[in-house]
Amino acid sequence: MEKTKKYCYGFCLLISIAINILFTINLYVGGGQEISHRPLTWSEKAAVEAEEVAAISCSGHGRAYVDGIVLDGKPVCECHVCYGGTDCSELSPGCATDADGGDPIFMEPFWMQHASDSAVVISGWHRMSYRYADDTMMSKELETYIRKMHSVVKNAVTEGRYVVFGIGSTQLLNAAVYALSSENSSSPSNVLASAPFFPTYKAQTVFFNSENFQFEGDTNSWQSNNSTDNMDVIEFVTSPNNPDGELKDSVIGGKTIYDHAYLWPHFTPITDPSDHDVMIFTLSKLTGHAGTRFGWAIIKDKAIYEKVLSYISFSDFGISKDTQLRVLKLLKVAVEGDGQPLFRFSYRKMSDRWDRLTSVMSKSTRFSIQQRHPLHCNFFNETRLPSPAYAWVKCEREEEYDCGAVLEAGKIIGRSGSTFSAEDRYTRLSLIRSQDDFELLLQRLTEFVSLEKGSIETM
Ligand SMILES: Cc1ncc(COP(=O)(O)O)c(C=O)c1O
Repeated sequence: MEKTKKYCYGFCLLISIAINILFTINLYVGGGQEISHRPLTWSEKAAVEAEEVAAISCSGHGRAYVDGIVLDGKPVCECHVCYGGTDCSELSPGCATDADGGDPIFMEPFWMQHASDSAVVISGWHRMSYRYADDTMMSKELETYIRKMHSVVKNAVTEGRYVVFGIGSTQLLNAAVYALSSENSSSPSNVLASAPFFPTYKAQTVFFNSENFQFEGDTNSWQSNNSTDNMDVIEFVTSPNNPDGELKDSVIGGKTIYDHAYLWPHFTPITDPSDHDVMIFTLSKLTGHAGTRFGWAIIKDKAIYEKVLSYISFSDFGISKDTQLRVLKLLKVAVEGDGQPLFRFSYRKMSDRWDRLTSVMSKSTRFSIQQRHPLHCNFFNETRLPSPAYAWVKCEREEEYDCGAVLEAGKIIGRSGSTFSAEDRYTRLSLIRSQDDFELLLQRLTEFVSLEKGSIETM
């Protein structure tokens, strides 16, 4: 009898273990298609899909996306530059490192650390209308968070100002030129920027080929050849500047468009809040979400605001509601803890990259990079150096007048000085790409500098 009882207990224990194993397998391996024997809700199903793709590691050298190319039913890994193979584990030894472009992937780890707060689930019927309930095309809640962001960082005055959203700041740059140009004048407004400047100012002004405005190039050269009396001028002021990170001010002092893409604590000490008539910002360089395509303008004058608004309305009939929802979610995370977690992460990343870069470049007489000067930062409440998004590299040897070609021979791809209306003796190197890209860049620069004591022909 006692023996039968023992067998019975043993049998029951085995059955119980087996059932538990089956439940666990069903939960984790069975694709999570059911929770506690009930079908997944629509949002749980979306979450399972997102998490399954996010779990594809790509060896830490790439990323798989829900909307990526699918092979054998699974999205494929999209590998970082110089990495390959189905799981991005193969580093191609002689590959040229890419320090071109302005993709701000350096922020990606922050968003992975804040995965649960920043994810968005969009229902199939989310905001199908062109308009919000108040008949506008801009989310009031998002505008509130944009204003909150500026009041937390203290980088721009927003009280009593109008806010307009754009598809990236790229769209707003031309919208502002359109709004500031004079329609009734006999000659077009002269659009200027101080070299080295962001090439899109010229490209867009020329491309849109309006009777009302024309691109006239570098502000200082233009000023030395023209009198500003009775001349209609629109000046782009990029502060901090792309490519060299300089804090800039207007040269002419008339109608200005302040492009503040980089006016955030990760790139520059925040001094007094910017207080100009037209200021343009972008999500791309604030949170790193360049792909989301979202920017905003802060405008003092009502008539200018209305013209920018009509430009956006005629060109796109407003900004995607899906985009606005995502930006809202991201900004909610960004303002948490008064912005300290986000900006501490991003500033630490940028200042570390600058420390390592300057340590390598200080050993070089062949290359130099821009000087940086400390300023008091009201956001971190400390005096600190700027940590710009780009290194503006100069080739110092007289015969090396094409710096881009010199670096390319050493397997470093940058963006040539002439792209920014400067000399090709300069090249811009991006410091905001992925950690893999930065590590390879530093490795190539270190190799370059270590060869300096040898012959020039070595590279
Ligand atoms: C100075 C400057 N302004 C504007 C932009 C455009 O940014 P967005 O991604 O918002 O179009 C960039 C992008 O690199 C930039 O460097």
